[in-house]
Amino acid sequence: MTKRVAILISGGGSNMVALAESMTGDHPARPVLVLSNDPDAGGLRKAADMGIPIAAIDHKPFGKDRAGFEAAIDAALRAAEPDIICLAGFMRILTPAFTSAWEGQMLNIHPSLLPKYKGLHTHARALEAGDEEHGCTVHEVTAALDDGPILGQARLRVAPDDTPETLAARVLPLEHALYPAVLRRFAAGDRTRIDLQS
Ligand code: GRF
Repeated sequence: MTKRVAILISGGGSNMVALAESMTGDHPARPVLVLSNDPDAGGLRKAADMGIPIAAIDHKPFGKDRAGFEAAIDAALRAAEPDIICLAGFMRILTPAFTSAWEGQMLNIHPSLLPKYKGLHTHARALEAGDEEHGCTVHEVTAALDDGPILGQARLRVAPDDTPETLAARVLPLEHALYPAVLRRFAAGDRTRIDLQS
């Protein structure tokens, strides 16, 4: 049975594109919705151009009403009946009420080698720490931020002249390789960890 995948984005959606483009042929999953918290997210146009249903629920009108925003997101998701939800450059923090409702079905990609550098500014923090290795992680989403079971990591050597910008640019292609590889395995019911080395 083909698994239905919803992808949540906030911006350009390069990870969404990589995921959507991977779901072809004998892949056990297909994209059924791309949803953004920003109606102007560039990824929405890309998804529409790929023929994927899109939706936008602007978080700004909800102000501090996080529960109200998440209820709207949840309703849009349930209408699409996803088996799997992929957070892909989705920049809103989700409450435990939301994550628990989808636990075991929701993945996220984070631009660090978790458990290092949960949260933001991961590339700058890795450079400040003088790390020789850096990369990205795909994990299951649980109540704690950037903390769920790790399903895959991709790593690279930090270059002496790397800046946060150059590091982000070198990690992004690793994300585009790792996330589709993990999704394919996860959609087949296989949680065996994937490790890629650049
Ligand atoms: C990526 O670095 C991703 O790790 C982070 O958001 C950035 C942009 O992602 N979460 P995308 O191009 O919108 O997929």
